[in-house]
Amino acid sequence: MNQALLRILLLTVLRAFARNETINPAIADEQLLWVGGEIGEVHTYRIPLLTFTTQGSLLAFAEARKLSYKDIGAKFIALRRSTDRGATWSPTSFIVDDGSLEDGLNLGSVVVDEETGAVIVIYSLCFHRYHCKPSNTMMVQSLDDGFTWSAPRNLNPQLGLMSFVPGPGFGIQKRHPPAVGRLVVCGHGSIAGDGLFCILSDDHGNTWRYGAELKSIPYKQHKNNLDFEPDECQPVELDDGSIVINVRNNKNYHCRCRMVVRSLDGGESLPVEELVFDHTLEDPAVAAGALEKEGVLYFTNPASTNSRVNLTLRWSVNRGKSWVKDTLKIWAGPSGYSCMTSLKGNETVDHKYIYVIYEKGQKDSIESVSFVKINLYSNQ
Ligand SMILES: *[C@@H]1O[C@H](CO)[C@@H](O)[C@H](O)[C@H]1NC(C)=O
Ligand SMILES: *[C@@H]1O[C@H](CO)[C@@H](O)[C@H](O)[C@H]1NC(C)=O
Ligand SMILES: *[C@@H]1O[C@H](CO)[C@@H](O)[C@H](O)[C@H]1NC(C)=O
Repeated sequence: MNQALLRILLLTVLRAFARNETINPAIADEQLLWVGGEIGEVHTYRIPLLTFTTQGSLLAFAEARKLSYKDIGAKFIALRRSTDRGATWSPTSFIVDDGSLEDGLNLGSVVVDEETGAVIVIYSLCFHRYHCKPSNTMMVQSLDDGFTWSAPRNLNPQLGLMSFVPGPGFGIQKRHPPAVGRLVVCGHGSIAGDGLFCILSDDHGNTWRYGAELKSIPYKQHKNNLDFEPDECQPVELDDGSIVINVRNNKNYHCRCRMVVRSLDGGESLPVEELVFDHTLEDPAVAAGALEKEGVLYFTNPASTNSRVNLTLRWSVNRGKSWVKDTLKIWAGPSGYSCMTSLKGNETVDHKYIYVIYEKGQKDSIESVSFVKINLYSNQ
């Protein structure tokens, strides 16, 4: 055994003895980042995304729906930044404005390129093709830690014309072979090509192409209840280099629970053999959060088969084969979409905390967007 390996082993053993490493999560802090209302420019904030930058800043994004709560309609992309791991936040800035489109922008995925430090946001315009066509897959990026943003770039000339809403959540950059450094952004299509698919970039977001696809059944046809319709999704990379995608089972095919599908080739394919239904992860058909941190898989959703309430954190220590019986209920009331992040840093605080952003309300889940800091080792 070489010395470096021995040192890592010793450190790990010492750390485990020094404190109780059993995961026992608890809420350490919670703040509302956005509240909708008829006052001001924004009717409703929805579809929250959360990421760390390479410089350790936290960025929170949401759709700011100008005139109504609906998925169609004109919007901004709202951003708030935190440089102290979520203790304080900048005022809201609007980094994209779609004007007054009838079928405006929809978020979206945020992906951070660890090599260039670029923060890339991918979203759609005219996804529903309501009084417009074709739909467009759009990208903006920041090269200065989220301060300033590029003009929107239309990716259709590179990609093609498929309707595509990424995420909602984060995209990944491959850390382990195959395809180290590749950006992988997964999402879903509309009726013209519905199902789950990913777009890939091997040059830090300069060029994009279509990658893996998991088609709906019946493909390109209207769906009935109980049909197979993989929808909004969150990919995470495991340390074996596989990409595990946690998917909204939109029409409750087979179960009222999450679908999980894996790509073994860096997002080029999603074989049906790699598709499972996770009956523990019961779900009301919603966008959920997933995160891998230090070998543990985390999952957030409104844990219910029929309504968006009870936003719950679960964790798995065996790559999602099973989930620990304990759960953390983050909010028992109305709650919807969620997204998680953590910092892969060297400091104790980075080992200790994960961060969740979610739709939260008293009567309705889309009243506000809330940020939660979770202490994973509250028993120490
Ligand atoms: C570690 O914490 C867990 C959860 O709080 C507890 O069940 C367990 O007994 C603790 N173990 C030790 C060795 O203190
Ligand atoms: C939410 O959680 C509570 C307590 O765990 C449970 O009694 C209730 O049935 C849950 N609600 C739904 C809609 O699943
Ligand atoms: C963590 O430590 C390693 C080795 O000491 C160093 O190379 C790396 O830059 C550090 N990472 C961060 C995020 O500080």
